[in-house]
Amino acid sequence: MPKLKDKHKHNFGQNQACVIHILDMRVESQGADFHTVWMNEPTSNGMPLVRMIDQNRLPFEFEIFNSPALETTCEAIKDMTVRGAGAIGATAAFAMAQGFFEDRPDEARALIESTRPTAQNLFYATRFVYEAAIKGRPSDAYMAAQEVALQDELACRQIGQYGLELMPDNSKVLTHCNAGWLAFVDWGSALSPVYVAHRAGKEVFVYADMTAPRNQGGRLTAWELANEGVPHQIVPDTGLMDLMDEVRPDLVIVGADRIAANGDVANKIGTRMVALAAREFDVPFYVAAPTSTIDLATSSGKDIRIESRSYDEVTHVTGLTEDGRLETVQFTNPGSPARNRAFDVTPNKLVTAFITERGIIRPRLEDIVAVKNAA
Ligand code: MRU
Repeated sequence: MPKLKDKHKHNFGQNQACVIHILDMRVESQGADFHTVWMNEPTSNGMPLVRMIDQNRLPFEFEIFNSPALETTCEAIKDMTVRGAGAIGATAAFAMAQGFFEDRPDEARALIESTRPTAQNLFYATRFVYEAAIKGRPSDAYMAAQEVALQDELACRQIGQYGLELMPDNSKVLTHCNAGWLAFVDWGSALSPVYVAHRAGKEVFVYADMTAPRNQGGRLTAWELANEGVPHQIVPDTGLMDLMDEVRPDLVIVGADRIAANGDVANKIGTRMVALAAREFDVPFYVAAPTSTIDLATSSGKDIRIESRSYDEVTHVTGLTEDGRLETVQFTNPGSPARNRAFDVTPNKLVTAFITERGIIRPRLEDIVAVKNAA
């Protein structure tokens, strides 16, 4: 068993202690294990501090961003210091707790819900903490937020166990964007089966789609896989069909930001292209997500709100200069605008199955309702 670290011990007053820990993913460069985001208990000024790995600096620099207040936590969600459905869900829960400590829960809820519109986990988590504490005390919000983070971690671990069944030995897995541990509190959704398989001694090779424009695949998925020692290659998005034709992966696993009741899936832009390529080559296409990502109030994908982001994300890129500085440069024609919708919707007919923490299910309304409502 790995060692328990202080950050996993939360004191909830009256000497009631709750130890939150399963098994953190490894950050080899630091020689230590970290959650993607966590919240310390209130300090002497009475405020809980939210702490997170700064994902905008990865893979070049490893830094922890500390957010002492609601506003800075919301800004961190917006500018993608923290990103990925589960991680922004947990961060939203922590922000909601900070909102209670700042004695402005209604304003806080509105502010958090205006940060990013697509990931269902953000809305679920904010509401969970709000409802748990609106008739109580800030400490209730603190505990509810820790509960959201713990459930996220447990669900992802369980997704890994179910996903393991789908992975033959010597698996070749294609994934898109980053739905690994950086996209959740720990373990990840799409990459959890990979990590569970790898730790169980199975051979697994991952092809990580670059995922333009923010390149979460090339930056974050590749960084995680390298930390875990999982063999992998980064594939440019334009190389997808060629990869399918030449390599024929055994399976595709992607994450989800919101799953509609009928099984349509909003996920990082480009996911639909991957699903179509998988269909063309008869490769199973799995979507791994905790049930907190299912939104039964949205009947189909056409009702999912898709985030549009600044077009600078398409025209500029951040990287490391030869003398080791992080720099952002423009690499498209100056003055040409760009389109930057952050997600697309993959229709249910292209999904082979969902891998959830409650089992593997077909992309059908009745199965989705049943798994969402299962205790
Ligand atoms: O814009 P991001 O990076 O927050 O996008 C979310 C994602 O990371 C992906 O869509 C991912 O595949 C699903 S989140 C687990």
